[in-house]
Amino acid sequence: MRKKLMEAFEQVFGSNDGASFYFAPGRVNLIGEHTDYNGGHVFPCALTIGTYAVARKNNDNVMRFYSLNFTALGVVTVPAENFVYKKEDNWCNYPKGVMWAFEQKGYKITSGLDIVYFGNIPNGSGLSSSASIEVVTSVILKEEFGFDVSMIDISLISQLAENKFNGVNCGIMDQFAIAMGKKDHAIFLDTADLSYTYAPIALENAKIVIACSNKKRGLADSKYNERRSQCETALAQIKEKKNINSLGELSEEEFEQLKDCITDETNRRRAKHAVYENQRTIKAVKALEENNIALFGQLMNESHISLRDDYEVTGIELDTLVEEAWKQKGVIGSRMTGAGFGGCTVSIVENDCIDAFIERVGTAYEEKIGYKADFYVVEVGDGARKLG
Ligand code: GLA
Repeated sequence: MRKKLMEAFEQVFGSNDGASFYFAPGRVNLIGEHTDYNGGHVFPCALTIGTYAVARKNNDNVMRFYSLNFTALGVVTVPAENFVYKKEDNWCNYPKGVMWAFEQKGYKITSGLDIVYFGNIPNGSGLSSSASIEVVTSVILKEEFGFDVSMIDISLISQLAENKFNGVNCGIMDQFAIAMGKKDHAIFLDTADLSYTYAPIALENAKIVIACSNKKRGLADSKYNERRSQCETALAQIKEKKNINSLGELSEEEFEQLKDCITDETNRRRAKHAVYENQRTIKAVKALEENNIALFGQLMNESHISLRDDYEVTGIELDTLVEEAWKQKGVIGSRMTGAGFGGCTVSIVENDCIDAFIERVGTAYEEKIGYKADFYVVEVGDGARKLG
């Protein structure tokens, strides 16, 4: 991969002398969905697929971006200051957003950069290809300009870029998982205070299988922001009775006692999901610690049902993938992962059942939906870093 990107860099920018090589993974969330902007827990892990980049400072006071995934766009050149969102800059709004966010935080970008990117995360799949671009760009800025930022700072700056530059009000999960990932571990993160622990994903006889629905996510961002504000409205109403900072502070019992404060029936279901999903995530991590993988899988399944019925972010494509998965032999658990409205599902499948799983779920999906799903048996990898 290094060779491929270095050669591309040389072709596009004349030489690759002094250029460095970087990587940021994609992520998959095992459980704890739509909890991260509700002060709850999440349990994601970094993947070994992700975004590679080669970068070098230039003396021209411009940023030049080139992606091997979007070659038709050619090199996009923007001034190395006063970064502004421009629709026509397409994917480059992600790295530009990160540069803007560093400047917002007081880090002065003192020269231009030439950067070539290549990602092997399927685009728009819900495996966080955009957060991966953001975090790899943050690592580039840290290293090239010597900024004194921790990997947690990097996740927060990358999230700021997504929220305020690209207009998606996402929580911290994706950028955190990508910056802080650890090989063969998932991250049990409390988004209320960013405290976290690593939990080994030591699946003896099983693997993580991702199924990509290939459904275009369309209006996903606006629906995402809508879910977020529904939870905020519900929280504001609960606060009239009980002084809490976030839905993540409530147990299931407390929620049941307070839920009538939420006047709108839809908002009540949204809040219910946020509260129950957070508690499910805590239980799931405990189950994993106790090596009770069957319970972990059952909680994954319950998570999907709640996202389908109460949070309403699944849709026929994700539901078909998951409901077909549940029928298969050797499936420990299966659910949608990420924001939803398209994107991927995550399943834990016993090793000797994986081929049949892919074959059967794939066939049933194509018959019902009319196009194919893609399947990936994934490995859990390390977080973003300079590779050399
Ligand atoms: C997207 C967001 C995350 C999180 C998930 C849902 O991936 O970027 O912050 O909210 O959706 O769990």
